[in-house]
Amino acid sequence: MPEINFIYPPGAPDPSIGSPNNADYNPRPMSTDPSRKFTMADLRAARASGTKVPMLTCYDYTTARLMQEAGIPALLVGDSAANVILGHPTTLPVTLDFMIEITAAVRRGAPKCLLISDMPFGSYQASVPQGVKNVIRMVQLSGCDCVKIEAAGSHLRLVRRLSDAGIAVMAHVGLRPQSIGLLGEYKAQGRTAAEAEQIVESASRLARAGAAAILLEAVPPELAATVVETVSIPVIGCGAGPACHGYVFVTHDALGLSPRKPKFAPVLGDLAAPMIESFRTYIRMVHDGKYPAPEHNYEKPPGK
Ligand code: KIV
Repeated sequence: MPEINFIYPPGAPDPSIGSPNNADYNPRPMSTDPSRKFTMADLRAARASGTKVPMLTCYDYTTARLMQEAGIPALLVGDSAANVILGHPTTLPVTLDFMIEITAAVRRGAPKCLLISDMPFGSYQASVPQGVKNVIRMVQLSGCDCVKIEAAGSHLRLVRRLSDAGIAVMAHVGLRPQSIGLLGEYKAQGRTAAEAEQIVESASRLARAGAAAILLEAVPPELAATVVETVSIPVIGCGAGPACHGYVFVTHDALGLSPRKPKFAPVLGDLAAPMIESFRTYIRMVHDGKYPAPEHNYEKPPGK
């Protein structure tokens, strides 16, 4: 795989697809330029230059620090926190307050990353004023750069209002896990001509309503390619094939930390095995009387 750098001045050419035309162009890994933040403008520039953007889900301060250090340009605080952090079978129970709290933690850990936060189920479905009020609360209290909503036709007015208010919205189409009640199961979408047409139409209408980006989940790659051709905003794929401008999946799935692994998540490591081994080492140390050892004790200062 070619080395990828993620700091691009808007409009800069992609170093992985040829020589930059601009002699001053000097892409750097994000972690070597702590003063530079990856922004929505950079995401648009990445689309323009053909540079693919690796995005990861993140739910806490410590992991956010490590992801920023590694050079991941964009983080999504997904409502998948309901599954991987809280242990719920669906994303429905997670609350707005919880999402705000963890998004703010991720912001503190990764101030330079583009930070997108999921608006949870129940926080924007009731009405446009409810959605606007809760999105403003999310933006003000968490410091996120963009909010993601699982968007249907009835959310076009909300997207328009938010975009008019200067708020970046990522519109999530394709598989929308917050609709599990209606869907009955999590499965790929857009596999019939009618469904595919409806997803392209939905993405197109949301883009025209002012969405800043599309998130396309669990659709065939050909459909994703059509969406990419149809809209002029960045399209981030989650199980949507290679045509998208960036990719995201639940980090825990790729690190071997969750019991399930969807087929589109790459294997980036197996963190479960070393963690379990570390916990067992601790058990052995306690049982063998090796912990606590003298070096773990606070000594009394001499003469006290
Ligand atoms: O909640 C989430 O993590 C998501 C991604 C899987 C796209 O929406």
